[in-house]
Amino acid sequence: MVGYRWQTAGHVALTAESVAILDRLPDWTSVGDLRDRLTPGGDIADAADLLRLLHSLGLVERDGDAPSNAEWMEWSPAAAFFHFSTKNGRFPADFGQRDRELVEKAALHPQPEPTKRVEGSRTPLVNTVPLEGTLQTALTERRTWRRFSKQPVPAAALATVLDRTFRVQARGRVAGQGEVVVKTSPSGGSRHPIEAYVLAWNVEGLNAGAYHYDGATHELVDLRRPVSAADIPDLLAHQTYFLGAGAAVIMCPVFARTMWRYGHSRAYRTVLIDAGHLGQTFCLTAVALGLAPFTTMAFSESKLEALLGLDGVLECPIYVAGVGMPDAGAGASPGRWHAVGG
Ligand SMILES: Cc1cc2nc3c(=O)[nH]c(=O)nc-3n(C[C@H](O)[C@H](O)[C@H](O)COP(=O)(O)O)c2cc1C
Repeated sequence: MVGYRWQTAGHVALTAESVAILDRLPDWTSVGDLRDRLTPGGDIADAADLLRLLHSLGLVERDGDAPSNAEWMEWSPAAAFFHFSTKNGRFPADFGQRDRELVEKAALHPQPEPTKRVEGSRTPLVNTVPLEGTLQTALTERRTWRRFSKQPVPAAALATVLDRTFRVQARGRVAGQGEVVVKTSPSGGSRHPIEAYVLAWNVEGLNAGAYHYDGATHELVDLRRPVSAADIPDLLAHQTYFLGAGAAVIMCPVFARTMWRYGHSRAYRTVLIDAGHLGQTFCLTAVALGLAPFTTMAFSESKLEALLGLDGVLECPIYVAGVGMPDAGAGASPGRWHAVGG
């Protein structure tokens, strides 16, 4: 028997009639079952043709299709719909275009205030326990860099950033459930779903290429895929300024780790927030080592998946953090488009 079920990842314009047919495929459905649901006693060949058409449009999944979107069933429809329908954003070839549009928008609709002021009695806070040392410096000096020197990133510094951000720090067990790992950032349910893949194009002591970072052994595994600075704008949504950096880490959740513990859509939020934690740890560590970090959400999931050999359903890019060497002349504007204090 060939079974079909509805799929979540397609972008296709549908007629109301086709939606009504998809509505009759809530779970694995045979051709005969569909025929009976549509026109009891009708022609089985018509139902088979219909399913073949829906399958060719990517609207239904056939039993045995790989990778299987059935893995997302528990996070369907809310999280699955959000995740797949927001994949591969459309980014303008000229990345400055959006800012020029926003200048026009600001003239008509000024942006909301960046801070909130609540009326009421106020208690001035005094930092009687000031933070000092490396953490204080890293917190104060962290900026998103878009101006880099041509110097390569030392492999040893990149290794420390990977170690402090993505390496397993310790292992534990949850009674009756199994092993968990802990890292420097918190993770919902200690599921640590996010794998790190490194694209290196200007790292001293490391061949340009794509690597998987093994957080258990602190090793880079060469994926044997060519990467050069020229590939970066295409992968990172035309953001040409990042090709001056030396390496980028593509954070890719293995969703099953979080889904195993949390079988409801809301847990998708923990995956996104986990990525944010890792991004900040990455940036602070990089700054503490004198590197120039950046993070970006503007990238092509599909192109990165193809490069890294990921299926895009069970594991896919969700956030990118990178490093270069700071441009000493960047002054108060290492991120180009706003001057701090300006
Ligand atoms: C979730 C997230 C997504 C971001 N995406 C981009 C991006 O696509 N491109 C980019 O140049 N910067 C990106 N940034 C960096 C922000 O633009 C930057 O943090 C912001 O301008 C504040 O500047 P600062 O990081 O120097 O304090 C992103 C930051 C975050 C937290």
